[in-house]
Amino acid sequence: MIAIAAVDRNWAIGKDGKLLANIPADMKYFREETTGNVIVMGRKTLDSFPGGRALPDRVNIVLTRDMSFERKNVVVAHSVEELDEILAEYDKDRVFCVGGSSVYEQLLPKCDKAYITQIDYEYAADAYFPNLDEKAEWVKTQESEEQTYFDICFAFTTYERR
Ligand SMILES: NC(=O)c1ccc[n+]([C@@H]2O[C@H](COP(=O)([O-])OP(=O)(O)OC[C@H]3O[C@@H](n4cnc5c(N)ncnc54)[C@H](OP(=O)(O)O)[C@@H]3O)[C@@H](O)[C@H]2O)c1
Repeated sequence: MIAIAAVDRNWAIGKDGKLLANIPADMKYFREETTGNVIVMGRKTLDSFPGGRALPDRVNIVLTRDMSFERKNVVVAHSVEELDEILAEYDKDRVFCVGGSSVYEQLLPKCDKAYITQIDYEYAADAYFPNLDEKAEWVKTQESEEQTYFDICFAFTTYERR
């Protein structure tokens, strides 16, 4: 499984159920990496998408403990164990963990790669990605040139499990 996230200098990813920044190049990168593949997310992240709708052209798997939860074009998993059963039929290199905080935390042990967009700013936040720079088993293996979107500076990085 591959984690994909946009983080700030403190590994913050969101506030009040929303992203910290909307950077078109990052959205495009996310779309290109995940289209045609499988995305796994928490119910709150699904609700943060426009209209709370599944993203097109991807298998959308949503974790929720709500046994009556249903949504168009969404495969529901009620536990990590149920998720494992669903994922058994997919190539693990095609499965992306797309958040949020609680799901990154729980699924990071299953990830061997992480595509991290690093935004050079400190936002007020209430949701975080685990700090991979503090984890001995993770190493940054790639970093793009610095990019800019108006006054926001960011870079696309890859971390891999040693
Ligand atoms: N920057 C980024 O790359 C990025 C990416 C994604 C999200 N985000 C941000 O992250 C924030 C949301 O993160 P979050 O941690 O609050 O929410 P979340 O992880 O998206 O969703 C949490 C929900 O997922 C379900 N869930 C989690 N673990 C489960 C398990 N083991 N079994 C069954 N259901 C489970 C529960 O749903 P029920 O309550 O329905 O039971 C739980 O309330 C937002 O601000 C969002 O914008 C940022």
